[in-house]
Amino acid sequence: MAYTRQQAVRTAAFLRKKVAKPPTVGLITGTGLGAAARLGDPLTVLPFSEIPGFPASTAPGQTGRVVFGELSGTAFLALKGRFHLYEGHPPAAVAFPVRVMQELDIGTLIVVNAAGGLNPGFFPQEIMILADHINLTGKNPLTGPNEAAWGVRFPDMSQAYDRSLMRAVESAAQTLNIPLRKGVYAGLPGPSLETPAEVRFLRTIGADAVGFSTVLEALAAVHAGMRLLGLSLITNVHDPDHPSPLTAEQVIATAKAAAPRLAALIRETLVREKAHGSL
Ligand code: HPA
Repeated sequence: MAYTRQQAVRTAAFLRKKVAKPPTVGLITGTGLGAAARLGDPLTVLPFSEIPGFPASTAPGQTGRVVFGELSGTAFLALKGRFHLYEGHPPAAVAFPVRVMQELDIGTLIVVNAAGGLNPGFFPQEIMILADHINLTGKNPLTGPNEAAWGVRFPDMSQAYDRSLMRAVESAAQTLNIPLRKGVYAGLPGPSLETPAEVRFLRTIGADAVGFSTVLEALAAVHAGMRLLGLSLITNVHDPDHPSPLTAEQVIATAKAAAPRLAALIRETLVREKAHGSL
């Protein structure tokens, strides 16, 4: 059976053999943000297609590779590209890389995405810390019998995103002079973009940014007991009173332009976490 614990254990065993030092930090990047995975020296790079049990990635702007690397003594595993519901993947496939990371004993996960701004105070190319999320996909990777070895039946979501990691990002951003936002990410299934009425609705329910990823991975990570950090790269800002067309090419181009800054922020955050003994 695909995406079971047995498969995650097998995939983790395959990956473990590829590196001398087991990773303690996981990173998942998305649309146009593969460069954000350039944290340190890449030691081993594997296309998704060469990893047993991995789904096939079809999303545009995503290369689909696992990168092992090391950054100031911290070994990490980064996914360049991810799996989305809109590709037709079931929720368990979307969350599968998180389960593999769990089986590798990775305790800290950073999820990044490209997102549309809903908060009228936001600007393109800004980075937003996910303070929280709203799962509007109608799906959940925890549906079905609970895998007790992975986590509890009813995981607490009162603090899904780790506060100490948020603080580390905030101080890293200050050092690097990178303006930072903090807000709520609304996860939709996509792939069609938001109508002006939907933008108004999302604002009303308290969302600051919107995208088609992250929430299902976050649910698996919380279930797994990981320390979780979420970062959105705001590629465009919706104005429902003056709607303007948006294309995937625009989103990818903006994400690509800002990815090195996001990589610098993640790098500085991990260096701090390591220095504080949190990794
Ligand atoms: N909507 C959904 N996903 C996105 C957007 C958007 O406006 N921008 C980047 N990813």
